[in-house]
Amino acid sequence: MKVRFADENDAGEISKVYEEWYSFKGILPDEMIIPESKEKISSNILNKNRKYLVAVVDNQIVGVCYIDTSFIKLQNIRLGNMIIKEKYRRRGIASGLISKIKEFALKNNVKKIWLWTQEELTDAIKCYEKNGFKLEGKQKSQFCGKDALLYGLVL
Ligand SMILES: CC(C)(COP(=O)(O)OP(=O)(O)OC[C@H]1O[C@@H](n2cnc3c(N)ncnc32)[C@H](O)[C@@H]1OP(=O)(O)O)[C@@H](O)C(=O)NCCC(=O)NCCS
Repeated sequence: MKVRFADENDAGEISKVYEEWYSFKGILPDEMIIPESKEKISSNILNKNRKYLVAVVDNQIVGVCYIDTSFIKLQNIRLGNMIIKEKYRRRGIASGLISKIKEFALKNNVKKIWLWTQEELTDAIKCYEKNGFKLEGKQKSQFCGKDALLYGLVL
């Protein structure tokens, strides 16, 4: 498995991986599971505040997330929208993406990585806790009227 930063040519494959959010239909609000189009991801990749990371196995993108650098001057970054294709889960791929984010953080004088998740995403919660993130709080009505969990990792 190789983890690398994405470029515009990856937008189509990234959008396909995000289609796996449909398996959460009825669990998360529809607004949260509809994947962004290839065009939207392509424009996000050009956004200087959003760096997509992809995990590649046998030349295929099997996992994705992004780093939101909007607050990097304040020495924090946000891990966003991580998902691994179902048949590739439990092989350390998400942990590999998180390691790459920690590496990016250390190189860029970042003191904290944080993220939002949902209490229904129990595998994700286990994964973040295994990788050192701590629950910092619950935000009421944060997304589509749903509460969100706030997790942070102080480096
Ligand atoms: C959450 C998710 C990204 C984890 O990806 P992954 O590549 O399977 O995670 P890893 O293999 O790196 O797992 C790391 C650790 O997390 C924990 N973990 C992950 N999935 C787990 C599961 N299904 N059951 C129990 N523990 C789990 C384990 O401690 C695991 O370490 P171990 O395998 O050595 O025991 C993946 O399950 C996924 O894509 N889920 C759906 C989307 C999602 O919830 N995204 C989060 C958005 S906030």
